[in-house]
Amino acid sequence: MLDILIVHGANLNLLGEREPEVYGSMTLDDVNRHISHRADELHVAVEFYQSNHEGAIIDFLHQHRKSADGLVINPGAFTHYSYALRDAISGVQLPAVEVHLSDIYAREEFRKKSVTKEVCLAQVSGKGVGSYLEGLELLISHLNSMPGK
Ligand code: DQA
Repeated sequence: MLDILIVHGANLNLLGEREPEVYGSMTLDDVNRHISHRADELHVAVEFYQSNHEGAIIDFLHQHRKSADGLVINPGAFTHYSYALRDAISGVQLPAVEVHLSDIYAREEFRKKSVTKEVCLAQVSGKGVGSYLEGLELLISHLNSMPGK
Protein backbone atom coordinates (compact mmCIF):
# COMPACT_ATOMS: atom_id res chain seq x y z
CA MET A 1 0.00 0.00 0.00
CA LEU A 2 1.29 3.46 -0.87
CA ASP A 3 2.28 5.57 2.12
CA ILE A 4 1.56 9.29 1.62
CA LEU A 5 2.65 12.12 3.90
CA ILE A 6 0.19 14.99 4.30
CA VAL A 7 2.01 18.02 5.67
CA HIS A 8 0.42 21.27 6.80
CA GLY A 9 2.67 24.26 7.48
CA ALA A 10 2.45 27.45 9.45
CA ASN A 11 -0.86 28.63 10.94
CA LEU A 12 -2.90 25.80 9.46
CA ASN A 13 -3.58 24.51 12.99
CA LEU A 14 -5.89 27.54 13.32
CA LEU A 15 -8.15 26.56 10.42
CA GLY A 16 -11.78 27.16 11.27
CA GLU A 17 -11.06 30.29 13.29
CA ARG A 18 -8.39 31.88 11.11
CA GLU A 19 -9.80 34.23 8.41
CA PRO A 20 -12.81 31.98 7.68
CA GLU A 21 -13.77 34.26 4.77
CA VAL A 22 -10.52 33.18 3.08
CA TYR A 23 -9.95 29.65 4.36
CA GLY A 24 -13.47 28.47 5.18
CA SER A 25 -14.94 27.14 8.39
CA MET A 26 -13.45 23.64 8.45
CA THR A 27 -10.95 22.88 11.17
CA LEU A 28 -7.70 21.06 10.43
CA ASP A 29 -9.25 17.89 11.89
CA ASP A 30 -12.18 18.28 9.45
CA VAL A 31 -9.74 18.67 6.54
CA ASN A 32 -7.79 15.61 7.67
CA ARG A 33 -11.01 13.59 7.99
CA HIS A 34 -11.90 14.39 4.36
CA ILE A 35 -8.41 13.39 3.24
CA SER A 36 -8.55 10.14 5.25
CA HIS A 37 -11.89 9.27 3.71
CA ARG A 38 -10.57 9.77 0.17
CA ALA A 39 -7.36 7.90 1.03
CA ASP A 40 -9.47 4.91 2.20
CA GLU A 41 -11.38 4.95 -1.09
CA LEU A 42 -8.10 5.07 -3.01
CA HIS A 43 -6.54 2.34 -0.82
CA VAL A 44 -3.55 4.38 0.26
CA ALA A 45 -2.25 5.09 3.77
CA VAL A 46 -1.84 8.71 4.87
CA GLU A 47 0.18 10.17 7.70
CA PHE A 48 -0.59 13.71 8.87
CA TYR A 49 1.79 16.30 10.24
CA GLN A 50 1.39 19.98 11.05
CA SER A 51 3.98 22.40 12.36
CA ASN A 52 4.50 26.12 12.60
CA HIS A 53 8.24 25.54 12.52
CA GLU A 54 10.13 25.31 9.26
CA GLY A 55 12.90 23.15 10.76
CA ALA A 56 10.41 20.73 12.32
CA ILE A 57 8.82 20.15 8.91
CA ILE A 58 12.24 19.63 7.38
CA ASP A 59 13.12 17.11 10.12
CA PHE A 60 9.82 15.30 9.55
CA LEU A 61 10.56 15.00 5.81
CA HIS A 62 14.07 13.72 6.53
CA GLN A 63 12.75 11.14 8.99
CA HIS A 64 10.20 9.79 6.52
CA ARG A 65 12.27 9.99 3.35
CA LYS A 66 12.91 6.24 3.13
CA SER A 67 9.56 4.94 4.34
CA ALA A 68 7.10 7.20 2.48
CA ASP A 69 6.16 7.07 -1.20
CA GLY A 70 5.13 10.68 -1.71
CA LEU A 71 4.09 13.97 -0.20
CA VAL A 72 1.12 16.34 -0.34
CA ILE A 73 2.17 19.60 1.26
CA ASN A 74 0.50 22.88 2.08
CA PRO A 75 3.50 24.86 3.27
CA GLY A 76 1.37 27.88 4.30
CA ALA A 77 3.44 31.07 4.15
CA PHE A 78 6.67 29.03 3.88
CA THR A 79 5.57 28.58 0.26
CA HIS A 80 6.57 32.09 -0.57
CA TYR A 81 10.09 32.28 0.81
CA SER A 82 11.45 29.08 2.34
CA TYR A 83 14.41 27.95 0.28
CA ALA A 84 15.26 25.58 3.15
CA LEU A 85 11.92 23.79 2.74
CA ARG A 86 12.32 23.81 -1.02
CA ASP A 87 15.74 22.16 -0.64
CA ALA A 88 14.27 19.59 1.77
CA ILE A 89 11.47 18.64 -0.66
CA SER A 90 13.95 18.20 -3.47
CA GLY A 91 16.57 16.60 -1.19
CA VAL A 92 14.36 13.81 0.15
CA GLN A 93 13.46 12.87 -3.43
CA LEU A 94 9.82 12.16 -2.64
CA PRO A 95 7.36 13.03 -5.41
CA ALA A 96 5.41 15.99 -4.03
CA VAL A 97 2.30 18.00 -4.84
CA GLU A 98 1.86 21.48 -3.37
CA VAL A 99 -1.65 22.48 -2.37
CA HIS A 100 -3.37 25.63 -1.12
CA LEU A 101 -6.88 26.12 0.21
CA SER A 102 -7.15 29.65 -1.16
CA ASP A 103 -6.35 30.86 -4.67
CA ILE A 104 -2.89 32.29 -4.09
CA TYR A 105 -2.99 33.97 -7.52
CA ALA A 106 -6.06 36.03 -6.62
CA ARG A 107 -4.65 37.50 -3.42
CA GLU A 108 -1.73 39.74 -2.39
CA GLU A 109 1.21 40.02 -4.78
CA PHE A 110 3.65 38.22 -2.44
CA ARG A 111 1.50 35.07 -2.50
CA LYS A 112 1.82 34.66 -6.25
CA LYS A 113 5.40 33.48 -5.91
CA SER A 114 5.96 29.91 -4.72
CA VAL A 115 9.55 28.84 -4.21
CA THR A 116 8.45 25.31 -3.31
CA LYS A 117 6.26 24.73 -6.36
CA GLU A 118 9.31 24.40 -8.58
CA VAL A 119 10.37 21.18 -6.86
CA CYS A 120 6.85 19.71 -6.88
CA LEU A 121 5.11 17.71 -9.59
CA ALA A 122 2.11 19.99 -9.53
CA GLN A 123 0.36 22.71 -7.59
CA VAL A 124 -3.36 22.83 -6.80
CA SER A 125 -4.71 26.09 -5.42
CA GLY A 126 -8.05 27.68 -4.58
CA LYS A 127 -10.28 24.63 -4.15
CA GLY A 128 -10.50 24.48 -0.37
CA VAL A 129 -10.21 20.92 0.94
CA GLY A 130 -10.66 19.88 -2.70
CA SER A 131 -7.09 21.08 -3.34
CA TYR A 132 -5.80 18.39 -1.00
CA LEU A 133 -8.04 15.71 -2.55
CA GLU A 134 -6.99 16.64 -6.08
CA GLY A 135 -3.36 16.82 -4.96
CA LEU A 136 -3.63 13.32 -3.47
CA GLU A 137 -5.18 11.96 -6.65
CA LEU A 138 -2.51 13.56 -8.86
CA LEU A 139 0.23 12.14 -6.67
CA ILE A 140 -1.25 8.63 -6.71
CA SER A 141 -1.65 8.70 -10.50
CA HIS A 142 1.97 9.73 -10.79
CA LEU A 143 3.16 7.00 -8.39
CA ASN A 144 1.09 4.35 -10.16
CA SER A 145 2.55 5.36 -13.52
CA MET A 146 6.12 4.88 -12.30
CA PRO A 147 7.98 1.84 -13.66
CA GLY A 148 7.90 -1.11 -11.28
CA LYS A 149 4.47 -0.22 -9.83
C1 DQA B 1 -2.20 28.99 2.12
C2 DQA B 1 -1.87 30.27 1.34
C3 DQA B 1 -0.66 30.96 1.93
O1 DQA B 1 -0.37 32.15 1.22
C4 DQA B 1 -0.90 31.32 3.38
O2 DQA B 1 0.25 31.90 3.95
C5 DQA B 1 -1.39 30.17 4.19
C6 DQA B 1 -2.36 29.26 3.60
C7 DQA B 1 -3.50 28.34 1.61
O3 DQA B 1 -3.72 27.17 1.94
O4 DQA B 1 -4.30 28.98 0.94
O5 DQA B 1 -1.05 30.03 5.34
O6 DQA B 1 -1.14 28.07 1.92
